[in-house]
Amino acid sequence: MSRSRVCVVGSGGREHALCLALARTADVVATPGNAGMAALLGGGAITTTAAPPEEVEADLYVIGPEVPLVAGLADRLRALGRRVVGPGADGARLEGSKAFMKEVLVAAGVPTARYRVCERFAEAQAFLRGLRGPWVVKADGLASGKGVLVAATLEEAEQDAASKLSGALGDAGRQVVVEEGLAGPECSLLVLCDGATVVPMVPAQDSKRIFDGDRGPNTGGMGAYAPLAQLDDAAVDDLVERMVRPVVHELRRRGIEYRGVLYAGLMLTDEGPRVLEFNVRFGDPEAQVVLPLLGEDPFEVLAAVAQGSLGSAVPSGRLQPTRAGAVCVVMAAEGYPEAPRSGDPIEGLGPDGQLADPVPGVTVVHAGTARPYGSGPFLVAGGRVLGVTAVASSVAEARQRAYAAVDRITWRGAQWRRDIASAPAEAVT
Ligand code: AMP
Ligand code: GLY
Repeated sequence: MSRSRVCVVGSGGREHALCLALARTADVVATPGNAGMAALLGGGAITTTAAPPEEVEADLYVIGPEVPLVAGLADRLRALGRRVVGPGADGARLEGSKAFMKEVLVAAGVPTARYRVCERFAEAQAFLRGLRGPWVVKADGLASGKGVLVAATLEEAEQDAASKLSGALGDAGRQVVVEEGLAGPECSLLVLCDGATVVPMVPAQDSKRIFDGDRGPNTGGMGAYAPLAQLDDAAVDDLVERMVRPVVHELRRRGIEYRGVLYAGLMLTDEGPRVLEFNVRFGDPEAQVVLPLLGEDPFEVLAAVAQGSLGSAVPSGRLQPTRAGAVCVVMAAEGYPEAPRSGDPIEGLGPDGQLADPVPGVTVVHAGTARPYGSGPFLVAGGRVLGVTAVASSVAEARQRAYAAVDRITWRGAQWRRDIASAPAEAVT
């Protein structure tokens, strides 16, 4: 039987991880893809094209980033009769508007931080003044990870609300969501949803701040690991029942059939779990650790999401248990997240974009790299440059391998966190 063909839409680390997972059993074409994918890992099963997704013939389309989802790419592909992993513009509003997301959460009875949606500064100020800190200000719309401020002082929060409402983030900040600050470990719970059936993937943790010890500004994510020792299967099922399934029902009640990955960003507080946000796609870098731990054939599972047959593809409602651990350490450019420096050659990679001196179980996922002449060294070409990902028989071992691999890669000004997955056994009450 000939292999199926999958089109992966996007060009980041998440999409490279998707290509690698899908290439286990399918031929993959990425649009537009990136230099790491084009380096032909896996004997040529991955190719890239500049053609738009509508013009790529494939049996399945997996849309990586939120921007095309919010803009309705899944709807356009479905209108052409294609099978797609990713919600239409209606479902993607969950990520495209934090005000909409909060409204759905409240209607579904899912616990989340107390909040108010404001268009005017005076309203935001009055609400913020009634809260005990920390204070959180979020742009309503998409802001590439720059839309959320967790402020230690009321003054800082008020300034940020004023700046967002006066257009600092353009249309994304026309409305802001102001809310109470919560505390506790975070968990990224990604589920597959075919419109009706919900199947959780292994829970992951993303380290969002730029510096060790969770200091400094938020980034797109500086590293991730999975699974989380403190969440066993029963705890994951409980979170799905309380935090995710009611949202899928609420969407259905509104006539929205959600086929794709639904990502609940949770905070495990002393008062119980709370939803911080929903994303409508795989996380980046969560995809890098969740996908390699998938026991099933990724193509079969994602095709079932697209076709509405997840219930028969995963009859137990549970993906095959895997005891392995995965750790991804993101290597970022100097100056990231504010002003990343690009153009420096990366040392330590071979012509296939992988470690020249391999470490067992380690894959280098490319995000912001370029290879201007299609050969020669890879150059830094983005904020998050590489995701060095290790899979091993435990999180601790994966961590050790990932950092051993990071030590074999260098470029001028490279920065990465030293503490990814360093406290994997943290207890949660
Ligand atoms: P979001 O894009 O809404 O997930 O926010 C990005 C990050 O900001 C989250 O991963 C948290 O680290 C932090 N954050 C968001 N909302 C809150 C909150 N209510 N309290 C504390 N931290 C928050
Ligand atoms: N790693 C966070 C995100 O993908 O939104």
